[in-house]
Amino acid sequence: MLARPNQMFRRWRDRYGEPFMVTSPNGQVVEVWEPATVRRVFTADHDDFAVFSPDSIAILIGHRSLLTIAGPTHRRERKLLGPPFHGARMRAYGEAMIELTRARIAELDAGSSFVAMDLTQGISLDVILRTVFGVDDARELDVYRTVVIEAIESAAPVLFFFPALRREFGGVGPYARLVARQRRFVDLLKGQIERVRPQASERADILSMMLEARYEDGEPMSDESLVDELRTLLLAGHETTAITLAWALYLVHRHPAVYHRLREELDGLGESPTPEAIAHLPYLDAVVNESLRLHPVVQEVMRTLTKPFELGAYTLPPGVTIAVNIFLAHRRTELFPEPEEFRPERFLDRTFSPFEYMPFGGGPRRCLGAAFALYEMKLVLATLLGDLELDLASEGPVEPVRRNLTMAPRGGVPLRVVRRRRPA
Ligand code: HEM
Repeated sequence: MLARPNQMFRRWRDRYGEPFMVTSPNGQVVEVWEPATVRRVFTADHDDFAVFSPDSIAILIGHRSLLTIAGPTHRRERKLLGPPFHGARMRAYGEAMIELTRARIAELDAGSSFVAMDLTQGISLDVILRTVFGVDDARELDVYRTVVIEAIESAAPVLFFFPALRREFGGVGPYARLVARQRRFVDLLKGQIERVRPQASERADILSMMLEARYEDGEPMSDESLVDELRTLLLAGHETTAITLAWALYLVHRHPAVYHRLREELDGLGESPTPEAIAHLPYLDAVVNESLRLHPVVQEVMRTLTKPFELGAYTLPPGVTIAVNIFLAHRRTELFPEPEEFRPERFLDRTFSPFEYMPFGGGPRRCLGAAFALYEMKLVLATLLGDLELDLASEGPVEPVRRNLTMAPRGGVPLRVVRRRRPA
């Protein structure tokens, strides 16, 4: 496990160039980031790849999750789960995203300080509980928040990287705690599935759509698959969105020119803009894209070979894993001049191909929730900046640190409420 992967990636890139190989506890990993190679990986036949170390995350999301299945089973599941995350269906959640953000803003007084990550995690958890799991009762939401947070916090990174630690040791220790908390979470989800099932055809949440959906052979999803996919949507969608929002808040407040240009664009929409109007703002879009470029939450996406793969002078054998290194791809100077600078204008000046800029991965496994996440991040950021005037509560630059399977801003970005721009 690399505690400071960014520094190591930079060092190895400078020393070896593409590709370089890392030996991880879960096997050999070959890192690539040149657009031509990335294109070959993302456009290769789906069946050329297996999932990298599925057992390491199966304890959190099961063996019937999009993240742990491959080949035809993955294709079939993707087809079924795709529609709720796109188009009008997904946009129907815009009002809820804004309302849930405002509920959290109401708890912040002028002059108070708070940690951006705590706020954004609260918001993104509420968004998933409401729009994906369909939990709308205030008391139930509280129960969910506790169980979900306990389940997430029990997931220490060492358990993923060192298989030998994944033992219960007589019912004590971090792994035993993780197993117990996951069981509690699964029981809660099973209860929710039973509650939602009878009214699924009249409800708008994603769980209801999953209950109504049918595979091509007319079969519905099994309860086991429903539980695993709900856990996956939470794991993949909660912290990733919260971390990116915390970075965006940090970066916008550290760059006054960006802040003012964004403010101007948001003010131009008037008092109560629609979610659609917010989502179409070009500079807001550029700010979110640039935050994801500079600080991709997921540093690399892995594909384990089931067939030999030609890479320059090498033939990689089955069993080796190819990692598309998003962190290094986003720092190619010919595409992103002065890559360590936060400069949203890059995304107004030109467009990037999916093999040059890929915060959501790519190919048949590209993030299922990418459109949902972008929509949510724009609405939350616009609402926070529209309702509050904020300032950074600590001076120095913030570094990324490992947090579970992702990289997050160290200290979570402390902020101060200068004043409310809109009454609570
Ligand atoms: C800023 C927010 C997010 C980022 C940066 C992000 C990034 C990623 C990345 C890099 C992958 C792996 C893609 C690959 O292997 O090529 C992924 C997969 C996935 N993400 Fe996201 N994600 C975000 C938010 C979400 C949200 C909100 C959801 C759902 C509510 C979600 C659901 C998923 C799922 C289900 C997968 C597995 C897809 C598959 O294997 O077929 N993600 N995400």
